[in-house]
Amino acid sequence: MSTSSSTEPTTGPTTGRAKATIGLTGLAVMGSNLARNIARHGHTIAVHNRTQAKTDALIEEHGDEGDFIPASSVKEFVESIERPRVIMIMVKAGAPTDAVIEELVPYLDKGDIIVDGGNAHFTDTIRRTEELAEKGIEFVGTGVSGGEEGALNGPSIMVGGSDQAYERVGPIMESIAARAGDGEACSAHVGTGGAGHFVKMVHNGIEYADMQLIAESYDLLRSVGGLEPAQIADVFAEWNTGELESFLIEMTADVLKHVDADTGKPFVDVVKDAAEQKGTGRWTVQSALDLGVPVTGIAEATFARSLSGHTDQRKAVREAFPTDPDAKPVSVDPEVFVDQVRDALYASKVVAYAQGFDQIAAGADEHGWQIDLGEVAKIWRAGCIIRARFLNRITEAYAADPHLTTLLTTPFFADAVKQSVPAWREVVATSALSGVPAPAFASSLAYFDALRRDRLPAALIQALRDNFGAHTYERVDRPGTFHTRWSGDRSESEQG
Ligand code: 6PG
Repeated sequence: MSTSSSTEPTTGPTTGRAKATIGLTGLAVMGSNLARNIARHGHTIAVHNRTQAKTDALIEEHGDEGDFIPASSVKEFVESIERPRVIMIMVKAGAPTDAVIEELVPYLDKGDIIVDGGNAHFTDTIRRTEELAEKGIEFVGTGVSGGEEGALNGPSIMVGGSDQAYERVGPIMESIAARAGDGEACSAHVGTGGAGHFVKMVHNGIEYADMQLIAESYDLLRSVGGLEPAQIADVFAEWNTGELESFLIEMTADVLKHVDADTGKPFVDVVKDAAEQKGTGRWTVQSALDLGVPVTGIAEATFARSLSGHTDQRKAVREAFPTDPDAKPVSVDPEVFVDQVRDALYASKVVAYAQGFDQIAAGADEHGWQIDLGEVAKIWRAGCIIRARFLNRITEAYAADPHLTTLLTTPFFADAVKQSVPAWREVVATSALSGVPAPAFASSLAYFDALRRDRLPAALIQALRDNFGAHTYERVDRPGTFHTRWSGDRSESEQG
């Protein structure tokens, strides 16, 4: 690594050309769309890819969209960026990210900033931040949501790293981010260190829950309500005009009305029913387990994807327990059922978001990040996959009380949940009676009911633990820790 920290002239030594404000390496679709977005916003951008062909293709196809400086080597790439440099890497999470960092470091100077816009695990981001800090390089783990389209036209951007790095990186990110209805940029410095990738991870967990709830709604409307995919598309389009308005609801309507060109069947019927995952939902659940936050909706959604992929077990159980041809289907009035499913979806969705925000709060506490939860809801209002109308309400709720115990009790959501409860119960009961699984609906309702119970059977669990393992318990009527001599005279003793 070069050690000089003086400021270089802002033009290249050989070409006299102005240097780039930012560099981006990793020109797969997300990277190249992000580079185009940055260029379109008037920033001179140096671009690089391990395989030169991708750089050439970007310049050939889109070079006229802004001021690009293509580089064919890492050295040339780094040297074409003004100092202190901002270099964005858009490569696969894990080892490929470490490999790119390793290639860049020898050419960097103290004070340079690496922005990782991939879906990195936040613990990798914390490690990289520390390792690079020892070399005087800032590392800014940044969550970027919105898929290919968002990358090009405005993503939601969750920036981590130091305050100092944000001063340099923030204005660029804010200029390329999506704009919410009130014109605010959907980009913010959510917290230091790994906070950006942590928030993005939970965003993805909520995305899993949201999609699972939508999928359960579709299944119930079709299998119990008797609606065809095209009719369900209309239902979703209608829901998208109300409180449920969101990118994923709108997209569901679009997907469900799509017809497969080869077979003439609804497209959803020709897609194999085994859901894949790249890992961010799983990471969210793993982290929630460590933090002790019950993200039941996200967990059910993640397990539902795993279950769908166990095709051998599915076949074995289907064959062992075939549907009884004489079984009476649960009969519902389709019109009433549509409204009930909408309410169940809404209430379960509120639970999933409440749990996700709880996890962000717990992660912030654990890692010492100052995360403004209202600000997180704000930058999810546009650009990202879980953008939804009701995020405004979440922002309002955290503005009113930044240390909310739970979103569920805030006036707007408490009212929404209260109104949905009867339908929510009907839908979960109908799912159980008809054998059409709705695990995320059911677990969200169970979560809500468990929180409402005056007494939980956790008391019995404590008693059992004490019985078989002398694990002790607390009493409701006086302070202290106790143990009962279960195999002796059953007398109780107070522990140390
Ligand atoms: C986004 C998405 C994106 C994610 C894909 C696929 O915010 O733009 O969350 O980051 O990678 O949605 O995720 P899975 O393959 O895990 O479903």
